[in-house]
Amino acid sequence: MKSFLSIRDFTTQDLQALLDLSIQLKSRYKSGGRDLCLSGKVLAMLFEKASLRTRISFEVAMTDLGGTAIYLKPEDIGIIGKREPAKDMARVFSRYVDGIMARTFAHETLVELDTWASVPVINALSDWSHPCQVMADLMTILEHFGKLEGLTLAYIGDGNNVARSLAFGCAKFHMKYKIATPAAYALDSRTIEEANAIEPDTVQTTQAPAEAVREADVVYTDTWVSMGQEAEKQKRIADFQDFQVNAELLAGAPGHAKIMHCLPAYRGCEITDEAAESKNCIIFDQAENRLHFQRALLKKLLS
Ligand code: CP
Ligand code: NVA
Repeated sequence: MKSFLSIRDFTTQDLQALLDLSIQLKSRYKSGGRDLCLSGKVLAMLFEKASLRTRISFEVAMTDLGGTAIYLKPEDIGIIGKREPAKDMARVFSRYVDGIMARTFAHETLVELDTWASVPVINALSDWSHPCQVMADLMTILEHFGKLEGLTLAYIGDGNNVARSLAFGCAKFHMKYKIATPAAYALDSRTIEEANAIEPDTVQTTQAPAEAVREADVVYTDTWVSMGQEAEKQKRIADFQDFQVNAELLAGAPGHAKIMHCLPAYRGCEITDEAAESKNCIIFDQAENRLHFQRALLKKLLS
């Protein structure tokens, strides 16, 4: 494991080992223990887009492990490859730091950085995927249900980066993934084929949110307007009106179903305030576990 670009690229065993390490380190840090395995190490954090959770949780994780993180905000780096080629940036960074994490528009930018960097590269979200988010989500589901295998996750909304990483995550951990999207915003067929090749029949698609949530253990949603899609905002809000996680939809889900969202949440759009504040909602456990998963990932890749 040199880098972490997509859940798809790793075996269930590797991913399970990362979850186990995340849970172990979480418990250790909660009880006051420390693991300074990255003392003297430096992580460069490159952001083409805004971030709250990802930036802070990676920086805290590096600090926790005795290392340092350098934050390069969108204004500092602009679009990677614009001022100088990604392959040059990758080789320059590799002379200064021990790891690179990047949040990009094009996923190819991450692949290019990884091709040329001699240090690990971590995907902190691209237009194609958000693997660190979904690993933290799987950790959260595991904590709440005591298992992953056999559970059903219903995703309501846009077939976007988070939806794609969830497809691979569910496939790797033998979960059912029922995804309800408007036809024009469906998850791409290649992702569905690849996920179903990992675990047969993992992904089931529908345009009916009520059908997706009927047997759900988890109801998950994400913004209708991802970063970079701001110009389509009004059209998207109109197109997704029937894809809101609200009391009416949740009334058709099992009573035990947990509500999840990677955040930031746009209340009144993809989720109502009532649903986001309900007792079954575990969005802040998800947000917290970003820190615990990434601490384990950094230990694994950089130490
Ligand atoms: N969920 C997530 O990645 O949040 P940020 O965009 O705030 O990092
Ligand atoms: N799909 C969203 C996730 C934000 C964490 C986006 O890409 O903007």
